[in-house]
Amino acid sequence: MPKSILGHEFILKKEDLKKKKQKTDQRGNTIPNAKNWQYSMKKIWQLMDDAHFKLFIVITCVIISSLLGLLGPYMIGKIIDNKIIPKKFDGLTQDLWMLLIIFILLSVTSYIAAIIMVTIAQDTVYKLRMQLFSHMQKLPIPFFDKRQHGELMSRMTNDIDTISQVLNSSFIQFTSSVVTIVGTIIVMLMLSPLLTLLTMIIIPLMFIAMQWITRRTGPLYKRRQKAIGAMNGYIEEIISGQVVVKVFSQEQEVISGFSEKNRNVRDNSFWSVTYSGFIPKVMNFFNNISFAIVAGIGGILALKGYGITVGTIVIFAEYARQFTRPLNDLANQFNTVLSALSGAERVFEIIDTEEEIDVDNANRNLEIKGDIKLENVVFKYNEEQTKPTINNVSFEVKTGESLALVGATGAGKTTIIQLLARFYEIQGGSIKIDDIDIKDIPKATLRNQMAYVLQDPFIFDGTIRENIKYKNQDISDEVMIQAAKDANAYDFIMRLEHGFDTEITFESTHLSQGEKQLINISRALVLNPKILLLDEATSNIDTVTEMKLQEAIEKLMHGRTSIIIAHRLNTVKKADKIVVLNQGEVIEAGKQSDLIALRGVYYDMLNSGDDLELLE
Ligand SMILES: Nc1ncnc2c1ncn2[C@@H]1O[C@H](COP(=O)(O)OP(=O)(O)OP(=O)(O)O)[C@@H](O)[C@H]1O
Ligand SMILES: [Mg+2]
Repeated sequence: MPKSILGHEFILKKEDLKKKKQKTDQRGNTIPNAKNWQYSMKKIWQLMDDAHFKLFIVITCVIISSLLGLLGPYMIGKIIDNKIIPKKFDGLTQDLWMLLIIFILLSVTSYIAAIIMVTIAQDTVYKLRMQLFSHMQKLPIPFFDKRQHGELMSRMTNDIDTISQVLNSSFIQFTSSVVTIVGTIIVMLMLSPLLTLLTMIIIPLMFIAMQWITRRTGPLYKRRQKAIGAMNGYIEEIISGQVVVKVFSQEQEVISGFSEKNRNVRDNSFWSVTYSGFIPKVMNFFNNISFAIVAGIGGILALKGYGITVGTIVIFAEYARQFTRPLNDLANQFNTVLSALSGAERVFEIIDTEEEIDVDNANRNLEIKGDIKLENVVFKYNEEQTKPTINNVSFEVKTGESLALVGATGAGKTTIIQLLARFYEIQGGSIKIDDIDIKDIPKATLRNQMAYVLQDPFIFDGTIRENIKYKNQDISDEVMIQAAKDANAYDFIMRLEHGFDTEITFESTHLSQGEKQLINISRALVLNPKILLLDEATSNIDTVTEMKLQEAIEKLMHGRTSIIIAHRLNTVKKADKIVVLNQGEVIEAGKQSDLIALRGVYYDMLNSGDDLELLE
């Protein structure tokens, strides 16, 4: 590819300039359709419901300052015509004082408008952010399953930022531009229609030039955003996969991969900034031309006595300058407003997503005893699935009993536990707790009385203490320590330099997988739940931690209803009941001794594993 003299590849091709069906703005964001605009604007307007009076003051101040901006040059022109040229200086000082007052008022009103607008904007954006975040907390798990987390985060940050920008400044600029343009045209027409026409001549040329530029910046900005996205994605991937990169000695490959992405960002940024940098230059050029026309032709007309005065020419020269600036602003604002609207649309799309279905009834105060009963449960993650993930599953666990779920990877064990916690809605059959369908129990009541230890342990940024007391920081230290002891986590925590006050993070590598699991178990234990759901980690952990985990699980099972997904057959041995799952169906169920006597799948699993002591 040919390069510019500065060494950047020419990346804009002819087909990039062709009009696309999907409209995009200067920065390459999709322009929402009018119906959605109206909707987003209405929603934002509603957020400003307590700011209508403030907004009124802003608009008043903007109108006043724009009109004062017109009045200043007008007065200067009149002073030239009436005082300076005829050399009549009486009252001139007064006029100059007036001018000074006008300019002071102009600054004061525009400053007041700006300050108030920023308060309105920040209050509104604060509310919007709160709405979005709290709404996300009410959305069901399937919503998050379907979306890329980074993309959701960008709605919370990027999209809201663009809205904030527009509210901060575009609103004022927009109003002031419109008032200025309309006001200028009116005064100019009143003074001299001929000179007005001369001033306007350059406008079509200006539009043609602007279009030439924006047709190029549009695709370039879009490509730049994409290139930045790709580069960021790459950086994230490589940082989180750093260990794998090192293990396979891919450092050089990774560097050259990055270099390509980096170059792409550089070239696209260079060209988009180069082209959009034309805009003020071109505007300036036309401004100067317009000034020359007004001064030159106006001067000739004045000399030839066409009723045009020197003062009028001064006014026109200033107005011509004032006129192109708001036009330019308007064009720029338009793009910003469009990207903000598409951002708003993405934000409201989430806010309008239906909340998790829940009931609020008499069962709110239900004290769960812990009888669990599944009857012919059928569940699919997606409507399109031909075979359900959970197919006709029935089993029962009585209060205080423990049940072990076993089966190959992908059999549906985690899914069953998630259904019990009601992360997903089942499509057939029923799940009952103490003979009440869980659909009739408010989710908070249900989840408050069960503890769920996830297959992948999760650690929040904070101390170990905060992590264990996650549900309620007021839990006493005695309870926390007891839970840590029962979970067999106490010893390793005490070996850390700061004990329970050690800061840990999700990525923190100084905790092993097994230790993270033990902290998660402690977090469940402090709550002393009626029902325990435990998804045993599949990852290989060292034998010492494994033994500790084993003991912890046994203590956990003691005296409460528990459903445990067991990958280690040692755990299974301790359970009152075993359910063997295969491709979402129960293929064997019963006591350990019954299943061994049956000599079926479970028996084969025992034989294939190295955990043969179970056969005793
Ligand atoms: N959020 C999801 N959306 C769609 N399909 C899913 C989702 N989660 C799991 N599945 C699919 O459902 C099936 C059961 O998955 P599940 O996680 O319940 O298996 P598992 O028995 O816990 O396996 P493992 O022993 O590996 O943990 C798998 O085929 C899996 O691909
Ligand atoms: Mg699982």
